Amino acid sequence: MRRFSKIVSTTSIIAVAITGLSLVSTTVSAAGSSKSDIEKGQDIAFSRKKGNCLACHNIKGGQLPGNIAPPLVTMQQRFPDKTKLRAQIYDSTVANPNSIMPPFGRHKIISDKEIDLVTDFIYQL
Ligand code: HEC
Repeated sequence: MRRFSKIVSTTSIIAVAITGLSLVSTTVSAAGSSKSDIEKGQDIAFSRKKGNCLACHNIKGGQLPGNIAPPLVTMQQRFPDKTKLRAQIYDSTVANPNSIMPPFGRHKIISDKEIDLVTDFIYQL
């Protein structure tokens, strides 16, 4: 009997822990962009047919990055204003007229919606 109650209490501790975990993850995704938007942004950024950002930038999680551009790290410190980060991705030639980074929005390389998703992904790096 004692053993049974031990199993019951262990099970309820695990149940409470699982409930706690799912509450935490709900809070995290509600606070910022949803996780799936960030994942979609990552797919677009890493895709050779879309952003192809890894050709030039080192980005966490990306394979075989190039090094002709600054690594994309601590982005919220670099760009406290997210709209400025989006503007950089939309048209890098505004900040640097000689930029070799493709003006993704101005040249319609990826859609406005895709730029939003890539910005969500880059902003949390
Ligand atoms: C052909 C190379 C190239 C590609 C592809 C490229 N970039 Fe860049 N990027 C650069 C260079 C070079 C800079 C440095 C600033 C400049 O020269 O414009 C830069 C700067 C940036 C910056 C500013 C970094 C900082 O710390 O100031 C961000 C953000 C950025 N790129 C995001 C992206 C994203 C997102 C993609 C993919 C959608 C991408 N880049 C694709 C070359 C590239």
